Amino acid sequence: MSAHYTEQQLSFCTSLPKVELHAHLNGSLRDSTIRELALQKNLDPSLTKVLEKGDRTLSEVFQVFGVIHQVTTDHATLTRITQEVIEDFAADNVQYLELRTTPKDRPEHGMTKRSYTEAVIRGLRLAEQGCTTVVRLLLSIDRREDAAAAMATVQLAAELSPCVVGIDLSGNPTVGTWETWEPALQHARKLGLRLTIHAAEVYNPSETKQILEFRPDRLGHMCCLDDNLEKQFYDSLIPVELCLSSNIITESVGSFPDHHFLPFFQAGHPVVLCTDDSGVFETSLSKEYAIAAQAFGLSQKDLWQLSYQAIQHTFLSREDQQKLRESWNEHYATHSHTWN
Ligand code: IMP
Ligand code: ZN
Repeated sequence: MSAHYTEQQLSFCTSLPKVELHAHLNGSLRDSTIRELALQKNLDPSLTKVLEKGDRTLSEVFQVFGVIHQVTTDHATLTRITQEVIEDFAADNVQYLELRTTPKDRPEHGMTKRSYTEAVIRGLRLAEQGCTTVVRLLLSIDRREDAAAAMATVQLAAELSPCVVGIDLSGNPTVGTWETWEPALQHARKLGLRLTIHAAEVYNPSETKQILEFRPDRLGHMCCLDDNLEKQFYDSLIPVELCLSSNIITESVGSFPDHHFLPFFQAGHPVVLCTDDSGVFETSLSKEYAIAAQAFGLSQKDLWQLSYQAIQHTFLSREDQQKLRESWNEHYATHSHTWN
């Protein structure tokens, strides 16, 4: 058992119905699947070494993605990993999952952004047959991409709506400039797509200011803010997806109790706990809730509330959000009399 939570905390958090809003497909792979694929594809053993767990800097994490992407190069594999990832979230009692992935043009593998995404959607459909978790997709723009590639992803997302509900901007935060992707993101908004943006993962005050002024529907991370940005962020009331293990393992934040979850939560800012890359960071959403319970002294009612409030930050319609609430309310009615 991890020192970061007790068995009892984990068991409580596992039983809670949960919403996952920030999970990258290729970061959420089972270890056993990666190992199997690496063997199948004759991956150079020195590359498999990169996959070994432990603390990694943010730039080392991007090397890990480079290796994972070398084993997820065919459509059948994409379908398989999507199905598995959804099944894993479902087994963790995640009742609504917004899964994000970067459509990839890889002509050397006979793959286009469209064929990539269609393979992912096939996996989603297969998973739907075996579990009740509601799943929607976000298509990610990688910060390495140029304006035209970003626009192509947005166009594709609009064509694949309503299975695809929005756009994410992610990738190595030290790469690229905001001006490159802003026109595509503006266009996405015009097309009715919802937007979530990784922001302030590293200290970049001018970009963070631009992102806050752009007003996406949600933000991811927000680790590195100065006083002015923090005020702008609080005033914005934009919900933020927070990924505790991810930020600790990549050393963006020193320790769990020092995580910015606490000041944001205490300020009443809307926050949603998420995994980011459950495979790469060896976590699950239940573990992230348990870590929060321990690090920030959250009560069982606080944890339920946190999970319940995440529903309103999903990119679902109001009616679909209401359907989810029924399941949460049922859980509350059955169990809350025993909670602290
Ligand atoms: P994919 O989009 O399914 O290929 O998932 C992996 C990709 O997600 C990586 O190559 C990054 O572009 C992005 N990603 C995953 N974790 C992070 C993170 O912590 N910060 C920024 N981007 C991330
Ligand atoms: Zn992320």
